[in-house]
Amino acid sequence: MKKIAVLVSGNGSNLQNLIDACKNKTIKNGKIILVISSNEKAFALSRAKKENIKTVVVSRSQFNCANDFDEALFNVLIQYSPDLIVLAGFTQLISKKIINSFKNKIINIHPSLIPSFCGKGCFGINVHKMALKRGVKVSGATVHFVNENFDEGPIIAQKAIEIEPDDTPSSLQQKILQNVEYNILPKVVNWFCLNRIKIKENIVSIEV
Ligand code: GRF
Repeated sequence: MKKIAVLVSGNGSNLQNLIDACKNKTIKNGKIILVISSNEKAFALSRAKKENIKTVVVSRSQFNCANDFDEALFNVLIQYSPDLIVLAGFTQLISKKIINSFKNKIINIHPSLIPSFCGKGCFGINVHKMALKRGVKVSGATVHFVNENFDEGPIIAQKAIEIEPDDTPSSLQQKILQNVEYNILPKVVNWFCLNRIKIKENIVSIEV
């Protein structure tokens, strides 16, 4: 059974979806052993506690400098040594030290079709505002490995939806969450737990 840590900062609906997917065996060989939140008020913490999952808060405001925050997060991760780290709405940058120590074991979900509308400053509702402003006709979400460059790690899964003329940033956000994110993230976690994800020269393939 693979040990999974989920890192969150807010609502945690993707976390909830992963919890449910472990319970109903959409994720077959994985167990969420730890939820780390960068925000002590995150609703995601209540979701985890309700399921008796260990929670730890590591918030940037607890530390004087970014380096101390990075060290604290690193130490918690080393203590629990997860096989997989899922960034599900985690708003803090992951340090190089963590990335190197958990190479190809950290995945992120981003609510656009990378390489569109991603990178520094592209998070939350902004992503959807940018997509609508640019007038794209499809958007979606991407699950990718985390490397040292923001949103540039190998892409594992993507799924698109059509944008309707009356979509607003928040309707688009909801549509992508419900129809794309809740679909592709558990699928990828399941593949990971079954050792089906292979990376060759930054290109991911899924073994059958
Ligand atoms: C999701 O849209 C995810 O793609 C992004 O942050 C949001 C988190 O939502 N990285 P939730 O906290 O899982 O509800």
